[in-house]
Amino acid sequence: MYQPASRVICGQMFVTLEGPEGAGKSTVQALIAERLRADGREVLTTREPGSGDIGAAVRDVLLHGGSLEPLTELFLFLADRAEHVAKTIRPALKGGVIVLCDRHADSTVVYQGYGRGLDVERLRELNALATGGLKPDLTLLFDLDPAIGLARVRGADRLDREPLDFHERVRHGFLNEATREPDRWRVIDAGQPKESVVAQSIREIAAHRSF
Ligand code: TMP
Repeated sequence: MYQPASRVICGQMFVTLEGPEGAGKSTVQALIAERLRADGREVLTTREPGSGDIGAAVRDVLLHGGSLEPLTELFLFLADRAEHVAKTIRPALKGGVIVLCDRHADSTVVYQGYGRGLDVERLRELNALATGGLKPDLTLLFDLDPAIGLARVRGADRLDREPLDFHERVRHGFLNEATREPDRWRVIDAGQPKESVVAQSIREIAAHRSF
């Protein structure tokens, strides 16, 4: 659970980091946070699934449990999101913090929709229910050829072990979603050296009207 600092710093902003497996989101997230903090901004780094005690338990079932029906998987991601938004993300934003979230609602649209074949429009509605209508101000898509990304992660969890064509649908899904809402999404080539990926991410955040 997030407790806002007593000294409120203005500039709340909700930034999500999305992308296929092995795109290096979590390393980049930590480096972006470090730079923004060095500039005096208050930053919360968090992720889905897996924030808080309930999130950690859900993450374990989702990523390291046995096989799950697509709908069971969906509802677990949504349950994790509902807890996360209510207990962590909204309080942080209210406290004027920049929230950097590693995966969020777009991962559900893309993995459970484009990947698993569940109805994408229905998933958007269920996401809105889980988040109470909260949407990211900015979404950074770290795009990478799934064959390269999967070689990096080496089947670390249940979703990584899905076949290549599942991950190709996921990549296509992310790129397609980015074209639907170009004001919110920025596509970043995750195949560049890490330093360039971080620099471009910071530029995109700093250029945004909410910054
Ligand atoms: P990661 O955070 O280590 O990338 O692992 C999370 C995995 O869960 C990743 O394979 C993407 C997947 N995922 C979904 O399928 N749906 C979702 O809504 C979210 C948040 C993640």
